[in-house]
Amino acid sequence: MNPMSEGNKQAVIIAVTNQKGGVGKTTSAVNIAYYLAKSGHKVLLVDLDPQGNASSGLGIDKANLPVTMGEVLLQTASMEQAVLQTEHKNLWLAPTTSHLANVEAEIAGMDHKFTRLKSALGSVAERYDVIIVDSPPSLSLLTVNGLIAAKYVLLPVQAEFYALEGLGQLLETMKLVRKGMNPSLELLGVLPTMTDSRTTLSKQVHDEIIKHFAEKVFQTTIPRNIRLAEAPSHGEPVGAYDRWSKGARAYKAVAKEVAERIAQ
Ligand SMILES: Nc1ncnc2c1ncn2[C@@H]1O[C@H](COP(=O)(O)OP(=O)(O)O)[C@@H](O)[C@H]1O
Ligand SMILES: [Mg+2]
Repeated sequence: MNPMSEGNKQAVIIAVTNQKGGVGKTTSAVNIAYYLAKSGHKVLLVDLDPQGNASSGLGIDKANLPVTMGEVLLQTASMEQAVLQTEHKNLWLAPTTSHLANVEAEIAGMDHKFTRLKSALGSVAERYDVIIVDSPPSLSLLTVNGLIAAKYVLLPVQAEFYALEGLGQLLETMKLVRKGMNPSLELLGVLPTMTDSRTTLSKQVHDEIIKHFAEKVFQTTIPRNIRLAEAPSHGEPVGAYDRWSKGARAYKAVAKEVAERIAQ
């Protein structure tokens, strides 16, 4: 490796995006972040959803946060001030509270409304190997900020009948972002979530996803697994809560695929 370039290596930024709610974005963001950190990457997880599920999923008490992503996007605080060290090695979190919903409305009338996250992440990108952005369930200003800041989109798709409906809109938004402010935005991969090997519907949806996205679909699928739903209420990634569960093993495997894809 060229020693001159080592000092300013920038984190690979991945936005976990799907405008549908409840498809496994936050679960994927938290657990892929955890396993990338566990395999030695320095990882920053950025909670960009006013619901703040990624923050509570990592056991952060949202009542007592001096600085959150809201202040960062308003530019009244720096990214550095918002970042918290988690109890997991190599894993940091930039938390969010419901205040971010008001902030989103505020910045909509301000300058540089689309590039605020990009600027904020740029200021810390040398410190991490990977930055994962957990997006809200909409194609809102916050989501677009994520798409403009990111190199890659990781798209979780729930294995259910309407899984692919609405994805056209997201892909269209990605195209617009590529034409405009972020030409290098790429789809990192499509992750089938909440699959159930016992049902033919789940299998059919998986076939459908592969038909549309071909080699972009990760080899790993995330099964429906109760441990994944329980872990956030303990404030833990599933790997810390029950590392031998099916859900944990699946996220470990997909994190490995993510690491391989971003290394290329
Ligand atoms: N593979 C899974 N198996 C079981 N429950 C899951 C799984 N993935 C997510 N969940 C649960 O489903 C709900 C929605 O998931 P979440 O990751 O919050 O979706 P999103 O961020 O897209 O809204 C949460 O309660 C979560 O704990
Ligand atoms: Mg979420």
